[in-house]
Amino acid sequence: MGYLKLKYSNDKQCEMLTKIVLIKAIRYVIAHSMIQQITLMGGFGRSGKPENVNRIDLKMGDVVSIVGPTGSGKTTLINDIELFADANTPTGRRVFFDGAPASKEIRNDPARHPIALITQNTSFLSDLPVGVFLETHARIRSVDESISRNIVERTLEFANQLTGEPIGPEVRMTELSGGQTRALLIADATIVCDTPIVLLDEVENAGINRTRALELLRRERKIFIFVTHDPRIALLSDYRIVMRGGSIMDVLETDAEEKQLSMVVTRIDECLSGLRETIRMGRRVTAGAMGGLP
Ligand SMILES: Nc1ncnc2c1ncn2[C@@H]1O[C@H](COP(=O)(O)OP(=O)(O)O)[C@@H](O)[C@H]1O
Ligand SMILES: [Mg+2]
Repeated sequence: MGYLKLKYSNDKQCEMLTKIVLIKAIRYVIAHSMIQQITLMGGFGRSGKPENVNRIDLKMGDVVSIVGPTGSGKTTLINDIELFADANTPTGRRVFFDGAPASKEIRNDPARHPIALITQNTSFLSDLPVGVFLETHARIRSVDESISRNIVERTLEFANQLTGEPIGPEVRMTELSGGQTRALLIADATIVCDTPIVLLDEVENAGINRTRALELLRRERKIFIFVTHDPRIALLSDYRIVMRGGSIMDVLETDAEEKQLSMVVTRIDECLSGLRETIRMGRRVTAGAMGGLP
């Protein structure tokens, strides 16, 4: 009897071990079959002329900005990426995933969609408490309930490092402020959706700690593409894609001088944010509040 019991518990252990090994193996395969690089092949600007830049390789871990005046084609470029353009959009651009056009699985299986797009108009259409919403969303994206629980905690922890106004799991989604919503959207795209590519189209950055956000995003093996006019984000990016007339004009890598200057830009920016807050609170601005800036 004792022997049988022992054997039974061994069998159980063996079953558990097999399960763990299997889950680990599946995760390994998923992690290693993930997209490593996307390639943008240039098409044509609004005038019909070929684009200046005809190839950009974006690698996992890259933080990229797209810059250019209003109407220069920034949104169109990220839409091309989101649509897996294959010379079938007005720009004639092509987007390759690891050297090939998007596979059928990528195109047709929403769970394998590799791109999260956040725009000014993206919002959570939900009145659920934040924790319940994230748990539901996580369950849709991943299978395991224990993993999805953990994801909710991680997502909130991530979001709360981006915003100065902490988000609790019990708060209703509709009660979140603008900054909290943006922080949660970015955290949700990064951790719950866990797509290898995250696109942000002129997402207003008020209420977001940008330096911290970029620091955190850099730890993820993903490609982050920001359409932005914010010098702080542009200079904290690895490179920026310059748009004009619907065309990719240039790709500027952030050079050593710009990296150095980005620290000054951060100080100026923090000073301005402080001033904004002082004015908002109805207080007087003093030389001290300028943080040593002339
Ligand atoms: N390469 C292109 N070929 C044709 N039309 C384009 C091209 N790029 C942009 N457009 C058009 O130009 C307009 C402005 O582009 P948009 O991407 O919205 O600019 P931005 O986001 O920089 O303000 C849109 O109507 C868009 O369809
Ligand atoms: Mg736009």
